[in-house]
Amino acid sequence: MKTLAVLSRKGGTGKTTVSLHLAVAAWLGGRGVLLADCDRQGSASEWRRERRIGGPVVFGAKSPALFATQQAARRAGRDLMIVDTSPSASEDLADAVRCADFCLMVLRPSFLDVRAVRETAELVTRFGKPGAFVINQAPPRRGGREMACVGDTVAQLSTMGRPILPIGLRARIAYQQAIGLGLSVQEASPGSAAAQEIGGLWRAVEEQMWPVPVEVEEAV
Ligand SMILES: Nc1ncnc2c1ncn2[C@@H]1O[C@H](COP(=O)(O)OP(=O)(O)O)[C@@H](O)[C@H]1O
Ligand SMILES: [Mg+2]
Repeated sequence: MKTLAVLSRKGGTGKTTVSLHLAVAAWLGGRGVLLADCDRQGSASEWRRERRIGGPVVFGAKSPALFATQQAARRAGRDLMIVDTSPSASEDLADAVRCADFCLMVLRPSFLDVRAVRETAELVTRFGKPGAFVINQAPPRRGGREMACVGDTVAQLSTMGRPILPIGLRARIAYQQAIGLGLSVQEASPGSAAAQEIGGLWRAVEEQMWPVPVEVEEAV
């Protein structure tokens, strides 16, 4: 079993949106998923309560007990635990990073989010964990071009020594609507741009977490 920690020091960057969408994408792909909701606000658990169909298991976990939750998930035969973190306490963040096989740092393309994510990236480095940035709530392109805030964010992130996942999420009302129904955009609006984004993001995360071994040709 592998553990994905979804992190940011700020509230509202999209940790819960990304966590639960990736949890459903993984579940739709046949993986046994536990979504550990470490935020005291319990947004992921609220979403699960709205859900009328099967799906990933959501468990309200306390950060200090995350290791025990991870062990239980492993014993239960899960393939993936996704940790949706709280924005506040740095000890909570450290607990999530410690348990993680991969850390996804979520930020909006804004000056303050970029400033805040640097500290998170340093924490991930301190624990020697692999990780990547994902840009959420990017504004739509204008006339086929990215808005300056996206380019500025990419430029800043590229100085932090971590990859930026090639697929980010645009600001789309579809995310908010799906969550209100206890669904993912892949279920509420299959084939939509939002659903394609999530499919692409999950594939990018999966490639990072389960890299396909490069076949080495045997020397003759
Ligand atoms: N890509 C997006 N497009 C539109 N709304 C979004 C998007 N990502 C997040 N939101 C909205 O922004 C708010 C904060 O998102 P949330 O996932 O709860 O952030 P966090 O868990 O980091 O606090 C929510 O109202 C959510 O619906
Ligand atoms: Mg949240």
